[in-house]
Amino acid sequence: MSLVEIRFTLNGREVRAEVPPTMALLEVVRERFQQSGSKLGCGEGECGACAMLLDGEPVLGCLTPAVDVDGREVRTVEGLREQGHLGALQQAFVAEGAIQCGFCTPGMLVAATALLAEHPHPTRAEVRRGLEGNLCRCTGYVAIFEGVERAAAGGGK
Ligand code: FES
Ligand code: FES
Repeated sequence: MSLVEIRFTLNGREVRAEVPPTMALLEVVRERFQQSGSKLGCGEGECGACAMLLDGEPVLGCLTPAVDVDGREVRTVEGLREQGHLGALQQAFVAEGAIQCGFCTPGMLVAATALLAEHPHPTRAEVRRGLEGNLCRCTGYVAIFEGVERAAAGGGK
């Protein structure tokens, strides 16, 4: 299979890769650039564990062809740090005990980042809607919702 060259920005860094046309963005990010925060859960667009931001919009890395991100900006959970430290949203998750086994957490943080960009002070219903594509098998959704609301209230630190 012939390879396609792509160049894109990954967590603020210009990168390039040669990829098969069918390769998923999640695989490229994890295997080629060692950004392993985004997780492979279902691989079928059902769980949200692979969520990342493409030009600021949430996408599923398992379903997004890597060739689609040529010339664009990708941000994963690693890119949510602020000056090398946990960002306010991440700190709010820790403070609320929203990280149980942690597998779904990167996708939750990415989805919540997109949600808070659109609704800086979301209602509980908006938080639920913003995270409805993300499954937590530990079923600890209340703590996750409270983590998002804590960040919105400026209580991350
Ligand atoms: S791994 Fe992508 S949605 Fe589940
Ligand atoms: S914290 Fe375990 S799947 Fe969500």
